[in-house]
Amino acid sequence: MAVSANNILAALRAVIDPDRGQDVVTLGMIGGLAIKGGNIGFAIEVDPARGVKLEPLRQACETRVLALPGVTSVTAVLTAHRAPSGGPAPAAAPGHSHEAPAEGRRSGRMTLPGVRAILAVASGKGGVGKSTTAVNLALGLARLGLKVGVLDADVYGPSIPRMLGVRGKPHSTGEKLEPMRAYGVACMSIGFLVDEDTPMIWRGPMVMSALEQMLRDVDWGALDVLVLDLPPGTGDAQLTIAQRVPVTGAVIVSTPQDIALLDARKGLNMFRKVDVPVIGLVENMSYFVCPHCGGRSDIFSHGGARRTAEQMDMEFLGEVPLHMAIRETSDAGLPIVVTRPEAEQAQAYMRLAATVADRLKALLAGGMRQPPRLVMM
Ligand SMILES: Nc1ncnc2c1ncn2[C@@H]1O[C@H](COP(=O)(O)OP(=O)(O)O)[C@@H](O)[C@H]1O
Ligand SMILES: [Mg+2]
Repeated sequence: MAVSANNILAALRAVIDPDRGQDVVTLGMIGGLAIKGGNIGFAIEVDPARGVKLEPLRQACETRVLALPGVTSVTAVLTAHRAPSGGPAPAAAPGHSHEAPAEGRRSGRMTLPGVRAILAVASGKGGVGKSTTAVNLALGLARLGLKVGVLDADVYGPSIPRMLGVRGKPHSTGEKLEPMRAYGVACMSIGFLVDEDTPMIWRGPMVMSALEQMLRDVDWGALDVLVLDLPPGTGDAQLTIAQRVPVTGAVIVSTPQDIALLDARKGLNMFRKVDVPVIGLVENMSYFVCPHCGGRSDIFSHGGARRTAEQMDMEFLGEVPLHMAIRETSDAGLPIVVTRPEAEQAQAYMRLAATVADRLKALLAGGMRQPPRLVMM
């Protein structure tokens, strides 16, 4: 039996917000209801000041909906809506001005005091090794002595917990969540907040609110670089993130095939549209190194990314070979940069990290051709 939105809202009317004494539907707290067969997703909008204290309310909502006939899974997320006293509501389309962090809220752009630079790792399509690159690049930056955080913004397919080998649930201290830690870097992922087998049925607006929570309600502390593993693609979700999050610079990951490179171009154009400086393009799975004989073969016409980068007037940041050791370490939560730093593949990531650190520094100092959108505090 198919479940309807009315059934779900009726069930949620039994859940009372303890602070306000009325039910969550009457209070207008339920948003973004998504029904995919028996899989239900919705957002519960709460005042950010109450944030994590409302976890029992969230669970009560899930339990009520899960009890309905025909429902197989429920994913409810607390989304922090802005309290009316917290300043004007964000504009739908932030402008491209170069405002200071304190003014970010006015344009709907988030602010992250304490975080010096935000590095987005993006790809035109999935499966090109974006997360593997994000993790090894982050750990490479940490090895260079920087304070690094990793935020898994790929809320549809979070893979950072697995790649960093971290399990468990984050603790909350007061109103904030403590990030998880692995290999000396702080990390947060929707994967820590919902069960691994919960289907990800987010709608566009929910992606942003889940991400906002992971940025704003997590105690990131002082960071030199926060590495953002973006969802693959160049659609609305990515565009919104690029507009709302004060990204210092973006790295685009591509494999050498033409089709992947075509999508990488779309990625570049997307960032240019919203004035996010693109640091450059990385060619992943650039060539194949046989783990047995060490012989090299260019299975996907190696070098395509370098040519594309040149044509598109962006920097080519280097190539990472397709190598068994990268796959094995990445999928086992033992990233090669920290577990086998002497390996040639790890060195490729270290070179990438050094270049990226350098370009971020230049962007923060305002010394690059494309101006940074934000003056960091
Ligand atoms: N250079 C590489 N060599 C071998 N395997 C790789 C390499 N880069 C990524 N992989 C593997 O490819 C798969 C997809 O990579 P992943 O980083 O999850 O891609 P994405 O985040 O773009 O979807 C993973 O199993 C990963 O271990
Ligand atoms: Mg990924």
